[in-house]
Amino acid sequence: MDFYQLAEMRQSTRKYDEGKTVEDGKLSRILECARLAPSACNGQPYLITVCRGDKAKAVAKETTGMGMNKFAVQAPVLIVLSEAEYVKTAALGAKVKGNDYRSLDIGIVCAHIALAAAEEGLGSCILGWFDDKAIRKLIGVDSPVRLVITIGYPAEGDMHREKKRKSMDALVRFAE
Ligand SMILES: Cc1cc2nc3c(=O)[nH]c(=O)nc-3n(C[C@H](O)[C@H](O)[C@H](O)COP(=O)(O)O)c2cc1C
Repeated sequence: MDFYQLAEMRQSTRKYDEGKTVEDGKLSRILECARLAPSACNGQPYLITVCRGDKAKAVAKETTGMGMNKFAVQAPVLIVLSEAEYVKTAALGAKVKGNDYRSLDIGIVCAHIALAAAEEGLGSCILGWFDDKAIRKLIGVDSPVRLVITIGYPAEGDMHREKKRKSMDALVRFAE
């Protein structure tokens, strides 16, 4: 798939085939794509924790507060993106410019993961709703969890949806 097709194909999958695991080769390629993501000052201020089996189910449960994300327990793989140490230059730049590069960097890694999953024929859903404290405890990290991503094969009949997005005019301006 070329990149433009991939951008069109990727969508949030909220129904997984619970009978299918994610092959190690596919997971490795997705993680390599995450590893290659750009970041402020190349600081890579994140830790990527891959959860499978019972750990995935336990983490998924912590994304379901207030009736949200019930589908997460169906996914065989959950990837948790938590913060890691900032390099000094990025930390200084973030402070001076009042811009939280760590969260931006984590968003970019997350996009790499979601697009790589789509390239591998897998579904994914980025989750921003979760119990940070509970997940930190489950995976043994002591810095903030920023995003969780579910990954697995979409359930049969989970169709490709037309994207709902703002119009190009509403979204894009040219300043000359
Ligand atoms: C930062 C972020 C947080 C999100 N959190 C959730 C979430 O907790 N639960 C969920 O079902 N979808 C979540 N999503 C998925 C969005 O709802 C979805 O990307 C958006 O509606 C566009 O749909 P699409 O991904 O199918 O193109 C999140 C997406 C992002 C980027």
